[in-house]
Amino acid sequence: MEAEHVDDDLTEVVLTEEQIQRRTTELAQEIERDYAGKELLLVGVLRGAVMVMADMARSLKRHVEMDWMAISSYGTGTSSSGVVRILKDLDTDINGKHVLVVEDIIDTGLTLSYLLSNLASRGPASTEVFTLLRKPEAQRMAVKVKYVGFDIPNDFVVGYGLDYAERYRNLRCVGTLAPHVYS
Ligand code: IMP
Repeated sequence: MEAEHVDDDLTEVVLTEEQIQRRTTELAQEIERDYAGKELLLVGVLRGAVMVMADMARSLKRHVEMDWMAISSYGTGTSSSGVVRILKDLDTDINGKHVLVVEDIIDTGLTLSYLLSNLASRGPASTEVFTLLRKPEAQRMAVKVKYVGFDIPNDFVVGYGLDYAERYRNLRCVGTLAPHVYS
């Protein structure tokens, strides 16, 4: 669906579908260069990264493997619960593999640091991170994020896989959620 289908639930369209696609294609080209001659496993973080993974993987002009993990972080609210646990683990053994974690958004970085230390214990050949969106707090954290689509302000956004209470994931753009929706 488009922004016009959610009435006045968005205060602003932060990124259009076209902007997202253009940037995804650019980053896909970087990934092709960086992983030339290497096998690559994309690890998507459910459920938010579904759209990012689908579009980024299809922009790549090469073979990749794809697997998924589900991690709890936010529940249904708009602030971090601080609780991180694995709800669904990988089906793939990543030992000796080049892993690229595909995220929708990094906010506090809590979810990502947990995930990276967990993956590191499994002996991958390398681990890097791709995120479509990054909020300011994440820029201050120690965890290295190699591929960043867009740095955005510290507002709660929805769309393109990102939800509020499981809604708005199927919105084509990314928009700022109006306070009347969650207050
Ligand atoms: P972090 O652990 O604080 O970095 O949070 C990462 C997770 O929180 C993301 O994978 C999202 O599921 C969720 N999240 C963070 N910010 C937003 C937002 O603005 N909209 C929707 N979900 C968000």
